[in-house]
Amino acid sequence: MADKDLNELFLDTLKDIYYAEKQILKALPKMAKAATSEKLQAAFTKHHDETEGQIERLEQIFELLGKPARGKKCDAIEGILDEGKEIMDEYAKTSALDAGLLAAAQAVEHYEMARYGTLKAWASKMDMPQAVKLLDQTLTEEKKTDETLSKIAETAVNYEAAA
Ligand SMILES: [Fe+2]
Repeated sequence: MADKDLNELFLDTLKDIYYAEKQILKALPKMAKAATSEKLQAAFTKHHDETEGQIERLEQIFELLGKPARGKKCDAIEGILDEGKEIMDEYAKTSALDAGLLAAAQAVEHYEMARYGTLKAWASKMDMPQAVKLLDQTLTEEKKTDETLSKIAETAVNYEAAA
């Protein structure tokens, strides 16, 4: 009984992050276009490509479960991405735009890290080593992206906004 519940929760959360990744895939090119820092543009573009691979990994996990890959509307990511859009509008052509974009992108990464960390732990409990491996690969990419964004924030971008 308990195992069945965790299976359902796992599938539900998988659908949530699948939906989120697809929204992120659409948002990243817009964020890259809006960014003024070349480093930030490059980071967004790189992560856009990574996100395509992350979506494929999720599809592999759906396959492992014998379930169709389907997203489920995730209000959390909608809210985070809406905030990002607001920043792009309200801070367009200001020196603080990149700092705002970085903050929005890091909120996205932290949401993803939370989700993938949880899914990985559950997949391990459910004795699904292949899923653990796939989730770990993505989790590592998200963490690296977050670190890259932190570095960019610490150097060029936030300094320029403060100057
Ligand atoms: Fe992602």
